[in-house]
Amino acid sequence: MPHGFHSGQKIRNETMSQKLALWGGTPSRTRPFAPWPVFGKAEEKRLLRTLRSGKWGRLHGPEVAEFEGRFAKMHGCKHGIAVVNGTVSLRIALQSAGIRAEDEVIIPPYTFFSTASAVIEANAVPVFADIDLDTFNLDPKAVQAAITSRTRAIIPVHFAGQPADMDAIMAIARKRKLIVIEDAAHAHGAGYKNRPAGSLGHMASFSFQSSKNITAGEGGIITTNDRRLAEACRSIHNCGRVPDGVWYEHHVISGNYRLGEFQGAVLNAQLDRLAAQTERRDGNGKYLAAKIAELPGLYPQERPIDCTRHSYHLFMLRIDAKKFGAPRGALIKALQAEGIPCSGGYGFSLQQQPMFRNKAFGPYLPKASAKLDYRKISCPNSDLICREQCVWLEQNMFLGSRTDMDDIARAFEKVHDNREVLNQWSRKAMKEAK
Ligand SMILES: Cc1ncc(COP(=O)(O)O)c(C=O)c1O
Repeated sequence: MPHGFHSGQKIRNETMSQKLALWGGTPSRTRPFAPWPVFGKAEEKRLLRTLRSGKWGRLHGPEVAEFEGRFAKMHGCKHGIAVVNGTVSLRIALQSAGIRAEDEVIIPPYTFFSTASAVIEANAVPVFADIDLDTFNLDPKAVQAAITSRTRAIIPVHFAGQPADMDAIMAIARKRKLIVIEDAAHAHGAGYKNRPAGSLGHMASFSFQSSKNITAGEGGIITTNDRRLAEACRSIHNCGRVPDGVWYEHHVISGNYRLGEFQGAVLNAQLDRLAAQTERRDGNGKYLAAKIAELPGLYPQERPIDCTRHSYHLFMLRIDAKKFGAPRGALIKALQAEGIPCSGGYGFSLQQQPMFRNKAFGPYLPKASAKLDYRKISCPNSDLICREQCVWLEQNMFLGSRTDMDDIARAFEKVHDNREVLNQWSRKAMKEAK
C-alpha cells in the first residue's frame, strides 16, 4: 500500500471513470513486458562447445577473438579488444591514449559512476561539463567552456543509446588536439548520421553488464580504427605483453583484463540478435515518444536528426510538474501501480556523489586533489533532471509489440487524467512525511 494511501482514498474523485490502480482501479497493464536477458539454443550450443573444448581462456579459445572481430566490424571499426567490463575498458582507453597524472578529462555529470571513476583510476582529473536539457547528452558549448591548458581528453556518453553531438565535439577536439573516447555503454548498434556509434571518436568503450542491450552478465570492449591505439589497448589488457615478446615479458603497467571464453560464447550468440533487437527498440521507442509528447508537461528525450538509430538502452523523458499537474514522484508511483515499471534514474548528478564531495580518491590525484572542490560545482541541467524531472523506462520493454507501447501510453494518459487528485494526494503525503 503506498504511503499516504488513506489520504488519497479520502480525496479520491468518485466521478473519475478510470480510477488509478494506485487506489484500487484496474491497472493499465497486467501482463509482464518482454523478459531480459534473451537467450536460446545458440547460447547453449556455443557454451557447451566451449565447455567441452577445455579452452576456457581467451588466449586458447576462438570465441572472444571471433566476437572482437564481429563486434568491431558491426560498429564500423577495424579493431576490438574485449575486456572484463565497461569500466576497465574506459580506463585502458585513457591509458592507451597517453593520459598522464593530473591531466584533465571532460565528462558529463549525467552518467553512471564509471565514466568518472575510470578517469580517476587513470590518475586524471574529471572535469564536468553540463548536458543539454533536451537531449540529455553532453553540451558542446559546456565542453568548450570547460577546456583548460591541462585538458587532454573528452568522454562523451551516448546517454540512453542516443549518440552525443559528435561533429561538434570532434571539431573542438581537433582544434585542441584532444582524444575523444565515446562511452558507448548504452549505445550498441546506435547510429549517428548513418555511422555506427563506436566509430565516431578515437576510441569507444561498450559494456556487456547484465542490464545492457547485449550481455554476458559482465564484459566490455574497446573499439577503434587506430592501429597504434589498438595495439596499446591489447597490450594493457594482457599484462603489458607485446606481440613479438616472450610470455614473461611485460612492457607497461597493466594487468589481466581479458574476457573469458564462456562470456565470448554468450556474446557471439547475443550479437546475432543485436541488429533486429535494435531495430525493434528504435521503432517502439520512436512510437512511444510521439505518443507521450502529446501530453502536457512530458518531454521525451529530444532526438536530433543526426541520430539515425537510437538503441534505447533507456527510454527517458522529463516531466515539468507544473505543466503536467503532478510531480515526478507521484507519476512514477502511479505508473508502477498501473503495471509500468519505471524509475527516476540517478538521484543526483555525479559531481554530488560522496566520492567527489569527500574527495575519496584513494591513492590517486595526490597533488590535484588539494585544489579540487567538487562541492562548489553545479551543473544546473543535470542537477534539475536528477532532482525532479527525469523518468526512465528500461530497454527490455521496447523488445515487445506496439500493443505494449499503447499500454504504456495509455497508462501515462490515465495518470494525466487523474493529475489533480494525484497532486493533492502527493502534497498530503509529503506534508505527513515531514
Ligand atoms: C554510461 C556507462 N558507462 C560505463 C559503465 C560501466 O560498465 P560496466 O558496468 O560494464 O563496468 C556503465 C554501466 O553501467 C554505464 O552505464
